[in-house]
Amino acid sequence: MKFPSEPFKIKVIEPIRRTTREERDRLLRQAGYNLFQIPAKSVYVDLLTDSGTAAMSDNQWAGMMLGDESYAGSENYYHFEEAVRSIFGYRHVIPTHQGRMAENLLFSTVVKSGMCVPNNIHFDTTRANVEHQGADALDLVIKEAYDPRCELPFKGNMDLVRLEETINRLGRDRIPLVMLTITNNSGGGQPVSMENIRQTRALVKRYHIPLFFDACRFAENCFFIKEREAEYADTSILAIAQELFGYGDGCTMSAKKDGLVNIGGFLSLNNEQWARDITNMLILVEGFPTYGGLAGRDLEAMARGLREVLDEDYLRFRIGQVRYLGELLDTAGVPILRPIGGHAVYLDARAYLPHLRPEELPAQALAIALYREYGIRGVEIGTVMFGKKDQATGRTVYPELEMVRLAIPRRVYTNMQITYVAESIIELYRRRESIAGFRMTYEAPVLRHFTARFEELPVRTSQRSGL
Ligand code: F0G
Repeated sequence: MKFPSEPFKIKVIEPIRRTTREERDRLLRQAGYNLFQIPAKSVYVDLLTDSGTAAMSDNQWAGMMLGDESYAGSENYYHFEEAVRSIFGYRHVIPTHQGRMAENLLFSTVVKSGMCVPNNIHFDTTRANVEHQGADALDLVIKEAYDPRCELPFKGNMDLVRLEETINRLGRDRIPLVMLTITNNSGGGQPVSMENIRQTRALVKRYHIPLFFDACRFAENCFFIKEREAEYADTSILAIAQELFGYGDGCTMSAKKDGLVNIGGFLSLNNEQWARDITNMLILVEGFPTYGGLAGRDLEAMARGLREVLDEDYLRFRIGQVRYLGELLDTAGVPILRPIGGHAVYLDARAYLPHLRPEELPAQALAIALYREYGIRGVEIGTVMFGKKDQATGRTVYPELEMVRLAIPRRVYTNMQITYVAESIIELYRRRESIAGFRMTYEAPVLRHFTARFEELPVRTSQRSGL
């Protein structure tokens, strides 16, 4: 396999500590087996999220020293505005402290109760912010997205037939905007093709419905377009991004991903009236329009990060590193979601632990085992996060996919550390039958995965006979 060698060298290091199994076991018990409750200092390789966890460049850190902390008209805002305009191309640039605030401002302005926002798949905060307005957050990704083994180059694509059916069924007045999440995080970090974006644009245009992007991982999506859509093979990432955003009317962005910063986000759009209403709300809840809940230095880091992320050597390394981890696992027979996405590798927990029943929470059990045995922290994306109680029957409704996401922070871990992760997961797979299931003993009424507590079930021989 070709090694995606790092296109940077290390100037500053942050020590990480190896802990013992006994220590991790104790911490897990104290945490009620909830990995969100484990102190980060006791994690060796932290793959909980790729959000806000990037390493900034020397150029970004230098920019931090040039922070203009004026309340109004900070110099850094103009740099930031210029960077956003040059890539995204929309008229209004509204900074926010992170992505979900951009979502909140947009939806609280344009979405009314009884409306519906279609998306390929809404990320949790996007869904929650749509639903908070009393509206329906509808996922209309192509059906292949739910098959972990189905190999398609653009598995994040919108199902255009279902989108048109939805518009016809509800009427355009109930759909204030259509969204596309690039890449599609909740569907495995899969990209959306330029062709699908163009067709989505053509469709919504006929009904005069605006198209917005959830642009968190836009550069990674553009890299996949360059790699997989022949006509873009010789186009720069910047030009691909400009064309892509040209098909839309605006975007929300968590710059904690492809902005290569630890905090920051924005909203950018063309609609004059919406921008005015959003800005008024921004002043109420975030801050003055030239800082939007951020320091001047944060805006500078974001302006620089947005340009750096377009660098093809960086993206080749970035996508290559994620793919490297996925290929090592796949080659060893570890069940993962295919194809390998842009920011994370997703372990298929049902296939990894076939001896566990759905109610024994296989993805939670796998995530816990990875931490207890190797100090690696991933995140459960399965029954704990998305399972629902059927109000009528009281039974659990299980999500379509039961996964552990291993999200790779940008520019943070070396390929050796990634190799350690792969080898650990492969070793664990060989003795997977020793992994016991879990039972939830406490759950909060909303977003339960952050605070839930669990109890380990005994490993039973009967579990193994279920194989
Ligand atoms: N949209 C997508 C597609 C996301 O992945 C996220 C965050 C957000 C919006 C919200 O952005 O965190 O800045 O408010 N995803 C993180 C994750 C938390 O781990 O996938 P935010």
